[in-house]
Amino acid sequence: MSVEIEIAEDKEQVAHLAATEFVRIANESINVRKRFTVALSGGSTPRRLYELLADKTHPYLAQVDWRHAHFFWGDERCVSPDDAESNFRTAHDALLSRVPVPPQNIHRIEAERSDSDEAAQDYERYLRRFFDLTDKDFLQFDLVLLGLGTDGHTASLFPDSTALEEDTRLVVATWIAKLDARRITLTARAINHARRVVFLVVGADKSKAVRQVLTGVVRDEALMPAQLIRPEMGAPLWIIDRAAAQLL
Ligand code: 6PG
Repeated sequence: MSVEIEIAEDKEQVAHLAATEFVRIANESINVRKRFTVALSGGSTPRRLYELLADKTHPYLAQVDWRHAHFFWGDERCVSPDDAESNFRTAHDALLSRVPVPPQNIHRIEAERSDSDEAAQDYERYLRRFFDLTDKDFLQFDLVLLGLGTDGHTASLFPDSTALEEDTRLVVATWIAKLDARRITLTARAINHARRVVFLVVGADKSKAVRQVLTGVVRDEALMPAQLIRPEMGAPLWIIDRAAAQLL
């Protein structure tokens, strides 16, 4: 699997490299298609990226025409949007409440609904309408941001999850036994149709998973789901700090 790798000194430089790539893709997308569509990653790693993008003491805020940016999520926890665990809340507090993006451009997954399967189907229907897709088409986000778990999961595609084999749906609800929790996630096939996929990975605890995904023989992908991410439109970019890259 070909990948692009940028090794950063530390978490702060990961965030700056990611912000630079975010701005580049946003401007390219808006120039060509008059809009920029991004599926945000969950977890804690992207928080610093979100803060930098919204911080007027850094150049990024002024470099994006936020009126034409549309925000989606690669996955969401099945909690209320104001729950500290919510990926929407993380992005809202660090970024979306601090940049001039129109509220109608924020396309949240309603994962708090009691029927998460129906919520996943509704988000898929919403995506198909927004991207004007037929049943056979797959959506093309301009950018999908992803993280990596120590077990090789990405988005909410966890080892041995039923979501890994899904190759027709764009969005599924999935039970994560190890977390004793349900999640809603884009499928690998939906992610692989993005124009650009960027992984942000920080920390020595991720170094084994980074080595397996980037250099391991692509074994049973059920064990290392991030190996399923092989975008059709070009190699994914991995922005990794030295600690996470130490076994490469
Ligand atoms: C989530 C994410 C998940 C995350 C990884 C890494 O909802 O948790 O989508 O895939 O990116 O678990 O999380 P950290 O950035 O917190 O290490």
